[in-house]
Amino acid sequence: MRPDELVLVLDFGGQYNQLIARRVRELNVYCEVVPYDISADEVRQLSPKGIIFSGGPSSVNSPEAPNCDPELYRLGIPILGICYGMQLMAKMLGGKVARGEKQEYGHVDLFLSGRSELFQGLGDSPEPLPAWMSHGDLVTEVPAGFVVNAYTANSPIAAMSDPERRLFAVQFHPEVHHTPWGKELMRNFLLRICGCSGSWTMQSYVQAKVEEIRQIVGNKRAVCALSGGIDSAVAATLVHKAIGNQLTCIFVNHGLMRKYEPEQVEKTFRDQFQMNLIHVNAADRFLAKLAGVVDPEQKRKIIGNEFIRVFEEEAAKLGEISFLVQGTIYPDVIESGTDKAAVIKSHHNVGGLPEDMKLALLEPIRDLFKDEVRVLAAELGLPEEIVWRQPFPGPGLAIRVMGEVTQEKCDLLRDADYIITEEIRRAGLYQQIWQSFGILTDTHTVGVQGDQRTYARVLAFRAVTSEDAMTADWARLPYEVLEKIAQRILNEVPGINRVVYDITSKPPGTIEWE
Ligand code: XMP
Repeated sequence: MRPDELVLVLDFGGQYNQLIARRVRELNVYCEVVPYDISADEVRQLSPKGIIFSGGPSSVNSPEAPNCDPELYRLGIPILGICYGMQLMAKMLGGKVARGEKQEYGHVDLFLSGRSELFQGLGDSPEPLPAWMSHGDLVTEVPAGFVVNAYTANSPIAAMSDPERRLFAVQFHPEVHHTPWGKELMRNFLLRICGCSGSWTMQSYVQAKVEEIRQIVGNKRAVCALSGGIDSAVAATLVHKAIGNQLTCIFVNHGLMRKYEPEQVEKTFRDQFQMNLIHVNAADRFLAKLAGVVDPEQKRKIIGNEFIRVFEEEAAKLGEISFLVQGTIYPDVIESGTDKAAVIKSHHNVGGLPEDMKLALLEPIRDLFKDEVRVLAAELGLPEEIVWRQPFPGPGLAIRVMGEVTQEKCDLLRDADYIITEEIRRAGLYQQIWQSFGILTDTHTVGVQGDQRTYARVLAFRAVTSEDAMTADWARLPYEVLEKIAQRILNEVPGINRVVYDITSKPPGTIEWE
């Protein structure tokens, strides 16, 4: 079941396509990203209130340029073309597109000309509007019936429309943050031009997804690897809502979790949601495999492989299973290299699955951004601790224990890390900070405690602020918080006699030490 009001984003391969979808959802309108060559018949059947053509890397003048079904322009459904979408609209309807003499990348000043429904309420000040451009081609002649709505120093036609046919187009990117008023333009398109009511909510998303999952799964069975993190938790809860006991969750406890995390998983999924939960305590197995290993990438590989092995062994005991539920979210899809972004560290929740695995993937939150997943998690009734949990890497403490990973070192780190989390929460900083955690270094230093000379480990404390983990800055924490954390660790965790604060940003450092 789809919500009553749907907007389609035609995907021409642009890097901001999911961002367009996200902006539409932020304006409380349901939206789906579909391939650019969807036929006009299919669109008619879906009966969307509006269509958005995304940007894309091609030039409309190249022979391989992706085209949409020309019938789309005759459906009477409002269309908004963005960047490539604008050039395509111009070219297909008889206008002209050429290579710009100067290419525009980044910030530009946009000047409005005439009145347009799309820019309603935006052009009242004589100042130009700051906008974000990223294009090589530009429209040099509008098609018959179109008027020019905006220009920049290098683009005489930076926005155009044919109000009669309900066709609108902009050369800049209203969906990115650098076009600060872009959301207002999108609102004008969706509410004013398409007539959407803006009443869609995450609750309707849940209903639609639950229905969709039921249809896909039928009476078959699914399995899900729960990690305790928000993404797999939301995916599992959503699928459980749809198919109940046809879902079995497997929690592979690799012994590298933070303090009390396994208990939290039990409490939430077994006690609160009453899911079929298999808790495999495989700590010894993982530690045995990690014995003597110090190379970070090797640690990751061993953990990834062992994880899959344990998971498969457990799944095999369940009999006939057809689906594997994964908590893949949109940033994972990008980071794992489906587009041109290079793989920086190997993540093991996308790809990495054995090729002979015959399960079909069920990825119910694949289109969502992290903050949308949080809203969904709250909607599903997941506890605060999971909804607002800071990101935690799949290999767990193994990449925060420098050198060889041993039970003793993990326990030491767990105790120190717990104090950090407690104090950061107590200071009201937990949600503002992207991640705050301890790293157990392999360095020993001399200290003095109660007249006794000590020779013990150094604990590093790292706290970073970030938007998306691609870049990060070290957090300027109040001295009192730093002091309290150091004091407590030094008093309460024997085996650590020195605490240092990491003031490295990313780049050049990564967030994790390994
Ligand atoms: P780095 O250390 O590359 O980390 O700056 C960026 C973000 O990714 C998390 N991270 C991982 N997450 N599996 C995961 O699921 C992994 O192997 C992994 N490695 C790093 C890290 O905690 C940070 O949020």
